[in-house]
Amino acid sequence: MEFPRYFKKAQKERWAIGQFNVSDMNALKGVVAAAVKLKSPIIIGTSEGESGFLGLKEAANLVDFYRRKTGLPILLNLDHGRSLEYIKRAINEGYSAVHFDGSKLPLNENIKIAGKVKDYARKRGVLVEGEMDAVSGSSSLLKKAPEAKSVKMTDPLEAKRFVSLSGVDSLAVSIGTFHGQVRGFQPKIDLERLKDINNQLKNTFLVMHGGSGVSEKDIRSAISLGIVKINVNTELRVAYSQALKKGLSGGETTPYKYLPEAVEAVQKVVEKKIKLFGSSNKI
Ligand code: 13P
Repeated sequence: MEFPRYFKKAQKERWAIGQFNVSDMNALKGVVAAAVKLKSPIIIGTSEGESGFLGLKEAANLVDFYRRKTGLPILLNLDHGRSLEYIKRAINEGYSAVHFDGSKLPLNENIKIAGKVKDYARKRGVLVEGEMDAVSGSSSLLKKAPEAKSVKMTDPLEAKRFVSLSGVDSLAVSIGTFHGQVRGFQPKIDLERLKDINNQLKNTFLVMHGGSGVSEKDIRSAISLGIVKINVNTELRVAYSQALKKGLSGGETTPYKYLPEAVEAVQKVVEKKIKLFGSSNKI
């Protein structure tokens, strides 16, 4: 599996790879088109909900098809896998990365299952992302940001312990972002904390969840402090849905006539993110 080399390169050169979540082949088409145009490695993400709709096997085969068609390095990641069973199914169907989200579990339980995921995945050449402190919210337009006081931020030493005991390759860090987007609101990222986490975890790939709605300045600073993977979902969902609504508003009923705009809308967002993350022309 050649993908880890891109993470290492990103870590060394200070840029980041985008994980773009999709629910269907139309969004996938848009993401791939952007990556082809900008010659960028990419990660396709599907949550349990997204992969439940698209199908694990279908997602794996579609991504494999695009890998062969384009020659692009494309990682397929199960995003926020909550159970070992579902994660094993994703790996068996051909996912090349899995994110075990045990952040709602007691820490020792989280470490134990993350270790089992790692053992299962490692033998099959699959990358594992862990999460110990939940990044709050959900990937949609939200009325207000989650209360800061209800969020537990990642403690650098705890993170070090989590990674050394579980053996995960990458870690989702809680540094102030949240899933979803609030119009006109930008989360404040705790850059000092990120710096400390990075100092403790030099060989771990650090992941920012909740990439939608974060200011460009903060994204650049986070990358300069060690973030190598940034997950984006809401902005793509919003672009897709708005373009679709527009395409349908005149009473059009032919999918191949109203869907291209949605594909292009996704492509546009992804192109912007790839440029911001600095991952263009890296393959
Ligand atoms: P956003 O929906 O805020 O972009 O977050 C996506 C994400 O982190 C998926 O894991």
